[in-house]
Amino acid sequence: MCGIIGYIGKNVEENLFEGLKRLEYRGYDSAGMTVMRNGNFDTYKSVGEVDNLKAKLKFNEEFGYGIAHTRWATHGKITIENCHPHFSSNGNIAIVHNGIIDNFEDLKIQLQAKDKCFVSQTDSEVVAKLLDKLNVNNLRRVLKQIKGSYALVLLSKEKDCLYFAKNKSPLYVGKGDDCVMVASDPSCFAGKIDRYYQLKDGEYGKISLKSLVFYDKNDEIIEKTQESLDFNFISEDKSGYDHFMIKEIYQSRIALENIIAKFQTPELESKLKELKKLMFDRIYLVGCGTAYHAGLIGQSYIRAECNIDTFCEVASEFKEKNFVIDENSLCIFISQSGETADTLSALEYCKQKNAHIIAITNTEYSTIAKKADINFPTCAGQEKAVASTKAYFAQCVMLYLIISYLKGKNNVEKLKLFKNQIDFGDDKALKNLAEIVSKYDKIFFIGRGIDYITAEEASLKLKEITYIFSSALPSGELKHGTLALVDESVLVIVIATDEKLFNKTLNNAYEIKSRGGKLVLFTQLNVDREVAKNFEMVFKVGLTQQDFYPMQIILPLQKLAYFTAVKKGINPDKPRNLAKSVTVE
Ligand code: F6R
Repeated sequence: MCGIIGYIGKNVEENLFEGLKRLEYRGYDSAGMTVMRNGNFDTYKSVGEVDNLKAKLKFNEEFGYGIAHTRWATHGKITIENCHPHFSSNGNIAIVHNGIIDNFEDLKIQLQAKDKCFVSQTDSEVVAKLLDKLNVNNLRRVLKQIKGSYALVLLSKEKDCLYFAKNKSPLYVGKGDDCVMVASDPSCFAGKIDRYYQLKDGEYGKISLKSLVFYDKNDEIIEKTQESLDFNFISEDKSGYDHFMIKEIYQSRIALENIIAKFQTPELESKLKELKKLMFDRIYLVGCGTAYHAGLIGQSYIRAECNIDTFCEVASEFKEKNFVIDENSLCIFISQSGETADTLSALEYCKQKNAHIIAITNTEYSTIAKKADINFPTCAGQEKAVASTKAYFAQCVMLYLIISYLKGKNNVEKLKLFKNQIDFGDDKALKNLAEIVSKYDKIFFIGRGIDYITAEEASLKLKEITYIFSSALPSGELKHGTLALVDESVLVIVIATDEKLFNKTLNNAYEIKSRGGKLVLFTQLNVDREVAKNFEMVFKVGLTQQDFYPMQIILPLQKLAYFTAVKKGINPDKPRNLAKSVTVE
């Protein structure tokens, strides 16, 4: 949800542009940059992807100061006027902002009464219009006036430093020998700065080449400790694939190898031992979107293995459900980015209730990872494509291993076997199917038991990158309403991996066929010829151990969504209206 970056050093435009490319997963509605040299601002703005900005930039190797922004629109349309940076009324101060200023409307009315003119419809512009001169006192005054979430970087024509502030949106500060950076994500520092400071809520400060000062929320100067950057995590290129999404689907196997290796480290063992010592009588799993679906898979593993009340809920609804949460609760938060605002907010709610907090994240330096009592890293490596693929696979594997461990089982050997059995599905068959799918404008996914969870995930993947309407249902539910929508214009993808539920699922599929709907089957079971005749296509994956059916069957379904997007001419890495790290509630 918007990426921001500040830089001091040589080659400002180039370094900010590179940073924006790394932050593009946070939004790509528009991009902007302001560079200051000799007391003058040069500003560049463009609508759409960060690459559109490149043509406008006047690259300059000389030393300078700059800030830049890549936007995911929350307030105001996708226009040049709404592009960041925004400016103070006298034009001397430029700001970039990630987050939402909740009281911006009140502030805007007050500022307009003082004859301040606004050029954008954004909430962010009020921050700039509250300033005429930039110094620590004025920044502090502004921070006391604004409410909501913000990561801010501010630049003044009159200063040889950058100012920054953070509340509820991530912000990192890095200082090298000949440059400094402030950014929404430390991956921007890669190749330039190898150590960074992570800001906490309420912290702010200023940085130049010579000095760095941090203040805490009580306005006291504080010392902070640096952390080192894990370069291995950062994914820079497509390695010969056409898109990051397909590369990342295939990286699921590497994620699995990484998890197996991690599981054998003393560090992870001590986390598991710590977890085993905890006393709890209820488990909650919480996440958004794909991470929520991984939570549902975890819930079904726990229910199958442990005699303990377990609930899985989407993070944005979690606080509304009045769950019983206390010191006897174990709350597991699942997040690829580790920055999702809804998940973070649910985590803080559980923390206040003294629950034990576990995180499963793909980003060890993230806020969710840091706020948890124990963080289990999913070791999948950075995901660049907006649609989560290898992280989902890794989240399911990590949940599986943790739950096995709690039950006293060491299933690492089983996973090693699975690693060699993984079947990503035949490209030719999937491309043919994608051709069929791309012609429909309504698709249902159905399944029973754990296959229904896969149906939900497959449906989410398809809709988010192909823009085809799709919906998932437990197969038994169709006849309770949705069957009314079924006619020859509907394609239903049936997921059936569980042998004991297979015949029941088939019966539901035939109810669709009787009403003209077309069927496709995804399974690893043998299907006899008479049964196969009912389907446009039977897509069969290789046999694995039952524990891993959900992780196996999702892979060709992810690829189906990918090939369908490509077929429709959509860039699957950057679907419209979405961003990868959702830092607003
Ligand atoms: C879908 C997808 C999203 C995310 C969701 C949570 O492909 O990527 O549904 O899963 O926004 O994000 P994280 O896992 O970063 O908390």
